[in-house]
Amino acid sequence: MCGIVAYLGENNAYDVLIKGLKRLEYRGYDSAGIALIDKDLSIFKKQGKVNDLETTFSGKTPHGKVGIGHTRWATHGEPNDVNAHPHYSSDKNLAIIHNGIIENYDSIKKELQQKGHQFLSETDSEVFIHFIEDIQKNNKCSLDEAVRIALTKVVGAYAIVILSKDNPDQLIAARKGSPLVIGIGAENNEFFLASDATPIVEYTKNVVYLNDEEVAIIDKTTGINIKNIEAIEQSPYVHTLDMELEAIEKGGFDYFMLKEIFEQPRSVADCMRGRLISEKEHALLGGIRKHFNDLVEAKRIIIVACGTSWHAGLVAEYVIEEFTRTPVEVEYASEFRYRNPIINKGDVVLAISQSGETADTLAAIELAKNKGAIILGICNVVGSSIARASHEGAYTHAGPEIGVASTKAFTAQLTVLYILALMLAKEKNTITKNQFLELSRQMESIPDKIKQVLDLNDEIEKISTLYKDVRNFLYLGRGYNFPVALEGALKLKEISYIHAEGYPAAEMKHGPIALIDKEMPVVVIATRDSSYDKIISNIQEVKARQGKVIAVVTKGDALIPSMVDHVIEVPPTHEAIMPLVSSIPLQLLSYHIAIMRGCNVDQPRNLAKSVTVE
Ligand code: AGP
Ligand code: GLU
Repeated sequence: MCGIVAYLGENNAYDVLIKGLKRLEYRGYDSAGIALIDKDLSIFKKQGKVNDLETTFSGKTPHGKVGIGHTRWATHGEPNDVNAHPHYSSDKNLAIIHNGIIENYDSIKKELQQKGHQFLSETDSEVFIHFIEDIQKNNKCSLDEAVRIALTKVVGAYAIVILSKDNPDQLIAARKGSPLVIGIGAENNEFFLASDATPIVEYTKNVVYLNDEEVAIIDKTTGINIKNIEAIEQSPYVHTLDMELEAIEKGGFDYFMLKEIFEQPRSVADCMRGRLISEKEHALLGGIRKHFNDLVEAKRIIIVACGTSWHAGLVAEYVIEEFTRTPVEVEYASEFRYRNPIINKGDVVLAISQSGETADTLAAIELAKNKGAIILGICNVVGSSIARASHEGAYTHAGPEIGVASTKAFTAQLTVLYILALMLAKEKNTITKNQFLELSRQMESIPDKIKQVLDLNDEIEKISTLYKDVRNFLYLGRGYNFPVALEGALKLKEISYIHAEGYPAAEMKHGPIALIDKEMPVVVIATRDSSYDKIISNIQEVKARQGKVIAVVTKGDALIPSMVDHVIEVPPTHEAIMPLVSSIPLQLLSYHIAIMRGCNVDQPRNLAKSVTVE
């Protein structure tokens, strides 16, 4: 996935583009580039981050009033200067920025090469712009018409913006699968295009979300004109954004990730507000109304997600099955989409995604939809592709999550899933009034309990200093804390590059126990719950082999501290909702270890915030 940004107006495009690219850098940071029109159409691009681009070309860029910019997460061709976007057409009159993949680029490239086209880069995106140029020349048509024709022939995903030297008052944009938002300035003659609203929000709150297979002509005089792929005019719907810019700044923290970890008392409370009120026995997700009955009647719920969102899905499986007795299956979206899964009438699919743009999850949704399933989306990004592809759904309201490692979005996903389980259990009468009250009251006290865990930050930092140089880590948990172990391990490996594995604690004896020696740190999530006695045995198994144990225990635990090397005490809560508390110290542990290893926790290597490729 990449970040794309474009500007058309009266001001210096360079400034808007660079600022926008910095906000979008979380989406990819292999290279960055911009194209501007002064008299000529010039491209400036560089491997590395937006800062490298700025330093290299400082004082060398013209003062154009129109331009496009790109920050890349490479799919086709290694990250280098040549493969960086924008890319020129062969006559250098057009420049493109592209987010996505053109799957049939190779056959198009061969055809164009036979016609004499020469390519400088290895990217699919350069082929795309040459293809559009070729169509325009052959058909002697307008650029937007050439784009439209090209879109009928390419297979894959794209959000593109094209700049034409012959028409500096215009930008052409199109999308399918990858996101694209168009902001409209106050005077209606200034336009901001971007992969998400963060580069736009400081200039305007009026935006149009381009839909799949639409081509937009953005023109200084005539405004925004949209056509679909069949050349039928579409009327743009202008949304008003309610996102504040400060919400996306670092707010005094060194890294977005740390800010986002510390935001969790608030983000969980925001997510619950008005949806869960224990006193009134109220549990309601307003976005799931029309299809709530489908959920109640569902013979089976299938959860599709990736990464951290998949871990939230595992917790949901436990809680939904326990309290509603509806069978739940949790699937990796990437496997589900390619294995001809069985979807019966009456199955409901829950798609969980922070970004709402994950290509595998989106494809799983389309597959399930085609087989007749009802799709309920649980997303953080409002207006995202998954939110729009779902029949109904609930937003997690965690606010923009910029750090690539998901933290507050995970706890917000859990919160929505707990509310969903409670509303369903209540409707199905599979929960007693007392159980409902107990769980919902415990949920209401979670923001405060998260605060208590955050107070342990210094203590967790101290433990981190002892383990920053190890090569491996094991995370163990049972029951509701098993997905927490998986999530703890994922967090550590993605930001610190230490190899870490999460396991159900009892599974250790079936293999991973062979890894344990005095060098091996084992994080055991051993809060007081129904498997407490069992996990104590697992701790002993580790200690017997001289492993180092860092145990997350319930405050006041009298037994475990004497058995282990370090304890992190968390406040007690109902075992079903413990993941909301027990996952927090693991986020802090990975954060500190990664920082001590000199890693950029917000932008870990090889990763991207939303994975819009397969
Ligand atoms: C989370 O820390 C990871 N970076 C990653 O596993 C992520 O959860 C996954 O790519 C799914 O993303 P989504 O929630 O935006 O769909
Ligand atoms: N396929 C393009 C490239 O590799 C765009 C990548 C993306 O959007 O992830 O340059």
